[in-house]
Amino acid sequence: MSGIAIRNIRKSFGATRVLHDVSLSIADGEFLTLLGPSGCGKSTLLRILAGLEVQDTGSIEIGGRVVDGIRPKRRDVAMVFQSYALYPHMSVAANIALPLRMRRLSRAQRLPLIGRWLPGSGPVISGIEMEVSRTAEALGIAHLLNRRPGQLSGGQRQRVAVGRAMVRHPAVFLMDEPLSNLDAKLRVQMRAEIKDLHRRLGVTFVYVTHDQAEAMTLSDRVVVMRDGEILQVAPPQEIYADPNDMRVAEFLGSPKINMVDATMREPGLVDLAGSALPVACEIAPGSKFTVGIRPEAFQFAEHPGPGVITGSVRMVEHMGSDLFVYFDPCGLEHPLIARLSAERAPHIVAGQTLHVSVRPDQLLVFNRDGRRVRARDVSRTNPSTPVREWA
Ligand SMILES: Nc1ncnc2c1ncn2[C@@H]1O[C@H](COP(=O)(O)OP(=O)(O)OP(=O)(O)O)[C@@H](O)[C@H]1O
Ligand SMILES: [Mg+2]
Repeated sequence: MSGIAIRNIRKSFGATRVLHDVSLSIADGEFLTLLGPSGCGKSTLLRILAGLEVQDTGSIEIGGRVVDGIRPKRRDVAMVFQSYALYPHMSVAANIALPLRMRRLSRAQRLPLIGRWLPGSGPVISGIEMEVSRTAEALGIAHLLNRRPGQLSGGQRQRVAVGRAMVRHPAVFLMDEPLSNLDAKLRVQMRAEIKDLHRRLGVTFVYVTHDQAEAMTLSDRVVVMRDGEILQVAPPQEIYADPNDMRVAEFLGSPKINMVDATMREPGLVDLAGSALPVACEIAPGSKFTVGIRPEAFQFAEHPGPGVITGSVRMVEHMGSDLFVYFDPCGLEHPLIARLSAERAPHIVAGQTLHVSVRPDQLLVFNRDGRRVRARDVSRTNPSTPVREWA
């Protein structure tokens, strides 16, 4: 049992409040990712879990045990840092073996040269060596055991850092941007390896990143953070398709979601980018709000018409199977971006007129505070008004 309960954690550094009352439950064996822009407090929260930083208020439970005040070593967690934190003067084998030597050998038994010959140390050291080579084998770095970290590539160093965490058999792995020093290709490969490691070990992983692709591909659930607060916790697909907050919608997705000011014309019909579009939620006529439209929510339309947005094409980017089309509907200051299938919209060029439709359920409505307004929110607050079905 190694679930985690984070309760009402607050943390300030001097006058700077870094975490505001953060609470979160992580299931045993879950892969949970903390995602958010630089400086939002991800590493601070992870370091508090590890016991490397102390919260001002609130409490942490790991595996049903309150660990506040318990030293990092005794928390049954292992952390992999962005910098890997390997000892440059030690071999790969010695780096991986270090946590086991610290745990299983006395100070005298750890002495170089003579330690091995002290009573009782021989079998323990052989056991450690076997475990190190088994771990190195599993990570594909057995041939590198005698090298120093400085003689390794970034990906190999990353594996050594993971190996050093693995030998401790922790109940929880904490990983702080472990792939951010790698080039794009290696990052994708190591991402798959981390996913595989999680599957094989079946223990809880808490992973920090500001890379949405990592968060989306690795996680059971994603926690989107901003300015020391949690904005949303949900499985990746839900975070993307059903964001609670404008900041969540804007943080995920590439190209970025289009955000357009809109006005409710009449119940179920919204004035947006020079068109009247049906929308699957009802707000009082005349209200102003913002509509988010993912680039792929647009569909190429042959003709103008009801529910169709028309604009002049500013630029087209060919991405192989897709086109990114930047177009200017009348009355908008900034262009909208549509991601269209190259097969269905083959001959679009700059300067031409483009028509696109968008399904009502793909319009994400946000109020002035940036909070999402859903159809069910409206029907609950105003039960006398039926919500129109447009799908
Ligand atoms: N030891 C410290 N002393 C003072 N301020 C700190 C300390 N550690 C972190 N901070 C501040 O706390 C805020 C959150 O830092 P944190 O490292 O948790 O962010 P992060 O989300 O991990 O960012 P990044 O993606 O850049 O790693 C930042 O404004 C940072 O400057
Ligand atoms: Mg960080």
